[in-house]
Amino acid sequence: MAEAVSRPDTSADRTETQMMGEFERLEAAAATVRAVAGATPEVAIVLGSGLGDFIARLADARTLAYGDIPHWPRSRVAGHLGQLVIGRAAGRRVAALAGRVHLYEGHDARTVTFATRVMGRLGVPVMIFTNAAGGINAGFTSGLLMAIDDHINLLGVNPLTGENDDRLGPRFPDMSEAYSRRLRGLADAAAADAGVGLAHGVYAAVPGPSYETPAEIRYLRVIGADAVGMSTVPEVVAARHMGVEVLGISCITNMAAGVLPRPLVHDEVMETARRVRDQFGALLEAILGKI
Ligand code: HPA
Repeated sequence: MAEAVSRPDTSADRTETQMMGEFERLEAAAATVRAVAGATPEVAIVLGSGLGDFIARLADARTLAYGDIPHWPRSRVAGHLGQLVIGRAAGRRVAALAGRVHLYEGHDARTVTFATRVMGRLGVPVMIFTNAAGGINAGFTSGLLMAIDDHINLLGVNPLTGENDDRLGPRFPDMSEAYSRRLRGLADAAAADAGVGLAHGVYAAVPGPSYETPAEIRYLRVIGADAVGMSTVPEVVAARHMGVEVLGISCITNMAAGVLPRPLVHDEVMETARRVRDQFGALLEAILGKI
């Protein structure tokens, strides 16, 4: 577009332009999703590595491939389907996001939080973020499900860095209860009803993609982490920025580096996620029934 008046292009101007661009991209994606979803979903669930099978539990499912939603980033990581499925589970209107993008794929923090922001712009009031994580707490075993009570951001980035767009949320959002106490309570009650064990703990987010060293895991244990993974935290920050209520659930797919005398492989992550598929699905459904 031609500039009517020429004036110095300051870096603040450029940031503002990028910011407006982001808002418009969010609105375009939200319009596409809204046209398929009809009524606003009551809950959006982001399904982590190997956990995408949950979409099979949705009734009246309508599927949007990520590639069909404008500006929506695509994941190329094994175990991430790349579909947004709108449907019903436990009587709730649900948007299930099977697949997310990660910082380690080379995306920036704003790209990683795009899908979350679209859900926020749709007016989705509750988001459940799930992930695969390594167990640090010595009381954990692989296959355990853990409600995230809090997080430690060791990613070195924050999705809110840069000019704040007041249409999305405040400059300095509170994170003292990033993971809703109400939803954690519901998750405990749902786990009891479904006969599924649910631990609680602190999730530390690291950039990856290399797994941690045993020394890093000892450090993470000292600073209070129970589990470690490479996702979720930017999305939770963006969701809270927009006032969305958040629940986080980690599937402990493996014990973290150095806890057991064997190397870590992504296949183990996928295999454990498959093994707990039914418990994970039953827990999510029971939670949805209580929201
Ligand atoms: N470390 C980091 N991320 C992970 C792990 C782990 O051990 N397992 C699954 N995601």
